[in-house]
Amino acid sequence: MKDFIAGLPKCELHLHIEGTLEPELKFELGRRNGIDLPYATVEEMRAAYDFDDLPSFLKVYYEGMQVLRTEPDFYDLAMAYLRKAASQNVRYAEIFFDPQAHTSRGVPFDVVIRGLRRALLDAQAQLGVRAQLIMCFLRDFQAEYAMATLLESLPYKEWIVGVGLDSDEKGNPPAKFAAVYERARQEGYLLTMHCDVDQENSIEHIRQAVEDIGVDRIDHGVNILEDPRLVELVLAKGLGLTCCPISNGYVTDSMKAEGIRKLMDLGVRVTINSDDPAYFPGYVQENVAAIQDALQLTEQELAQLQRNAFEITWLPRHLKDAYLAEIDAYLS
Ligand code: HPA
Ligand code: ZN
Repeated sequence: MKDFIAGLPKCELHLHIEGTLEPELKFELGRRNGIDLPYATVEEMRAAYDFDDLPSFLKVYYEGMQVLRTEPDFYDLAMAYLRKAASQNVRYAEIFFDPQAHTSRGVPFDVVIRGLRRALLDAQAQLGVRAQLIMCFLRDFQAEYAMATLLESLPYKEWIVGVGLDSDEKGNPPAKFAAVYERARQEGYLLTMHCDVDQENSIEHIRQAVEDIGVDRIDHGVNILEDPRLVELVLAKGLGLTCCPISNGYVTDSMKAEGIRKLMDLGVRVTINSDDPAYFPGYVQENVAAIQDALQLTEQELAQLQRNAFEITWLPRHLKDAYLAEIDAYLS
């Protein structure tokens, strides 16, 4: 099964690029930029990753990314991830980035996006991995800042396939960003947002995302299972869910494997992703292996999860079909 998973053509749809910043690269960028980190070793740094819910994770996440300063830093970050992805036979990735986590500390938007973009182009040419960028707004900042970020992104619209919403969900419902999402849609961006697992008002937040905002996808979202009407809506609209089992295991009480099983049985387009693999240890391959182990999934079921993912990608039909054909070829 391990070999089957390794060889299966895979797709990553929920991956925060800043969450791929491994301790080794953090040290290297710290040295490069003259920033002293309060740890002597990689082990010491990892030992300080002490979180058990979303807010405590986010604190470590934002602290860690302060070493990212220049265009080459963002290039190196994305290139390191894409090399790892290629080594796991990830064929295509949609990658979140958090511009406000950088502009809020004085790093210009264009530095961030130019570094990421250059890595995506090099990875496609050199590694054969395709990727697109999704720009996330930080929901614990004001909606006006999100709108300003959206406007700042417009000159780079061709480099960004869609927008997302992340950071601390508590007290920051989708409705707060209704105007931002409306403008993003008008500008041609596709729409997703985090509906993090087991949040206060999870059900109402998911309802707002689906009914009021009209998202094209939901990040996480397993809590739809608590409301049959939401399941019906998600099925009727054919919305995909980007689940992240290992991440769930760190910030909630479990990997939510049974929920993922139920979603599969209901015919929801559920997918398996890695979220922040430098912090929740496990890239896509490890996440797929974890869910296989928990649910004893068959080869056909594992292939179906990857089919779901390629099907809900924000790629043109002919590219979706090409990746789906790779799965068919692998199975036969
Ligand atoms: N949820 C919300 N915000 C985040 C996450 C997440 O899983 N990862 C990075 N920022
Ligand atoms: Zn996430």
